Amino acid sequence: MSHLFDLSGKTALVTGATRGLGFEMAKALCEAGCEVFFNGRSKDVLMEKTEGIPNAHVVAFDVSNPKHIELALGQLGPLDILVNNVGLRDRRTIDEFSLEDVNSLLNSNLVAPFELSRKAAALMGQGGRIINVTSIAGDIARSNDAIYTASKAGLTGLTRALAAELGPRGITVNAIAPGYFATEANQPMVENAEVKQFLENRCSIQRWGHPEEIAGTCVFLASKASSYITGQVITVDGGLSAHF
Ligand SMILES: NC(=O)c1ccc[n+]([C@@H]2O[C@H](COP(=O)([O-])OP(=O)(O)OC[C@H]3O[C@@H](n4cnc5c(N)ncnc54)[C@H](OP(=O)(O)O)[C@@H]3O)[C@@H](O)[C@H]2O)c1
Repeated sequence: MSHLFDLSGKTALVTGATRGLGFEMAKALCEAGCEVFFNGRSKDVLMEKTEGIPNAHVVAFDVSNPKHIELALGQLGPLDILVNNVGLRDRRTIDEFSLEDVNSLLNSNLVAPFELSRKAAALMGQGGRIINVTSIAGDIARSNDAIYTASKAGLTGLTRALAAELGPRGITVNAIAPGYFATEANQPMVENAEVKQFLENRCSIQRWGHPEEIAGTCVFLASKASSYITGQVITVDGGLSAHF
């Protein structure tokens, strides 16, 4: 079976791969034999984080800047896999958001994956894979999180629309919707006893996800094993959205 998951000879770009879920997905793609460009905004940080990882390369650029995207993808050469992982969080009430803040968040979480996808698709000669990282917030909502929720629901819609448009070119487009993962960014919440209790009550698996638990789904969606799957969202949330 291992040939189904073997990514030798493939090249991937993972945005936001200096830490958290992006780092784990990029590392797992390397372990599956893929040449992987880890992205983040600082070349120094990327060099430090990828040191000693076989098949790891770095490409520093800001996904929210279309000129940076154009320059960076222009240097990459042929590409097989794009993981649109960058996603900004900003939990505030609707009255606390300026329209500038709204545009900035939508720019990173929705416009950037659109721009990266169409530029990457042009580099995917014999077909390819696009994997968008959404959230359970793409399907279910809570208060004080309107713009992030809208951005992730938009990314789910973009996933389906791109799957329809790029399918004839041999490119599959799917999404991963994570639930609660104990990434560095979530550390204050991980240490919060109320959140721990919430997850024990709400998740079938009754705990935070470990960041590395996202990796298998990414390798699956990047590999031959998922060749007839497109336009889908795979939820990785320990059962939170399936359980009440
Ligand atoms: N963690 C969770 O529980 C969870 C749950 C649901 C959904 N998600 C989604 O999963 C994805 C990853 O989440 P995470 O918690 O792992 O994120 P994170 O720890 O905050 O990591 C963010 C990554 O994005 C990079 N980044 C931020 N802005 C960037 C920009 N403009 N251009 C390029 N790189 C940029 C950061 O690199 P530098 O700062 O080094 O540039 C870093 O590598 C997001 O889309 C998030 O919405 C996460």
